[in-house]
Amino acid sequence: MSSFLVLGIESSCDETGVALVRAPADGGVPQLLAHALHSQVAMHADYGGVVPELASRDHIRRVLPLTSKALAQAGCTLLNVDAVAFTRGPGLAGALLVGAGVACALGAALDVPVLGVHHLEGHLLSPFLSADAPEFPFVALLVSGGHTQLMRVEGVGQYELLGESIDDAAGEAFDKSAKLIGLPYPGGPELARLAERGNAEVFNFPRPLLHSGNLDFSFAGLKTAVLTQVKKLLEPLDEQVRADLAASVQAAIVDVLVKKSLSALRQTRLKRLVVAGGVSANRALREQMNAACKARGVRVHYPELELCTDNGAMIAMAAAMRMQAGVEVPQKDYSFDVRARWPLQEVAQITEKTQHAKA
Ligand code: KG4
Ligand code: ZN
Repeated sequence: MSSFLVLGIESSCDETGVALVRAPADGGVPQLLAHALHSQVAMHADYGGVVPELASRDHIRRVLPLTSKALAQAGCTLLNVDAVAFTRGPGLAGALLVGAGVACALGAALDVPVLGVHHLEGHLLSPFLSADAPEFPFVALLVSGGHTQLMRVEGVGQYELLGESIDDAAGEAFDKSAKLIGLPYPGGPELARLAERGNAEVFNFPRPLLHSGNLDFSFAGLKTAVLTQVKKLLEPLDEQVRADLAASVQAAIVDVLVKKSLSALRQTRLKRLVVAGGVSANRALREQMNAACKARGVRVHYPELELCTDNGAMIAMAAAMRMQAGVEVPQKDYSFDVRARWPLQEVAQITEKTQHAKA
């Protein structure tokens, strides 16, 4: 087989994603043939956040139509699929079960192997889908709604945790601060939009653990500082004040993320950085990270903007790269389970050297 076709399904939270990736069997970067996505944002907006039961039900409604759409876009049929990948965790258990159940049913019906992918490994490898794909080794800053981690990445499956958030994740800090400023769910992108019109120097929010000497993060105190500040101001908040609050919060989060990434690069002596996960879509973060990296001769890579938040492409890609690297052999074992909590280290093989892309 000179190449193989992977169908990937993502259903860990509030986005249903299905994608097709074709991977050369002997190495080389896999190519994205098609990806289809449905966001549940509008459905959850009335509740101010994700309602797990509604999320699961919506994944069930969307996953097969999205699969048909992706196949049509790629000019393929199910009979062309060589392996089916799904997000095994971490995430909402009921939501994960939808993707896992459908993937295993498809696998059994087509008599092809299946593979459960770690959601964060999907984010981590998503920049390989971009025009400016990275090369190993690199430092990775993973910034999503549930995780903030710095890793040293030697190859596929070779992840060494350098530091992580001891409380809230960066995305969570964006979302919680947005709520306090009176912005609707999903808070991160809303706060970023409002911040464009604000002055980041009006409020001086804390930069927790900035000088801690290690690579851990803490964002819970920031939320408290925003709450205290909002209480001090006269409600209802003036539009400009809200924009200044948004810009100042964003500046605090970005400042910490940039400086800690630079420390990780210094410590590891690596000259390449990958920033991935939902928060990597943030424009201020990209601008400041680009400027800081340029000044230090560091190459920085991001996923394409539309692939920063959850999608099926990153799941198909991670599966394809694990298979190419020989880190994982998908099995015709359809007795699936999911992992609502699942440390990325459990899928890492940091002691064994396996390199991606021999050719
Ligand atoms: O990776 P992701 O889609 O889901 C998880 O795996 O958690 O990340 C979602 C997070 C949310 O917290 C969202 O507010 C944040 O990413 N996010 C942003 C932006 N776009 C998404 N935060 C700041 N600026 C953005 N432009
Ligand atoms: Zn995610």
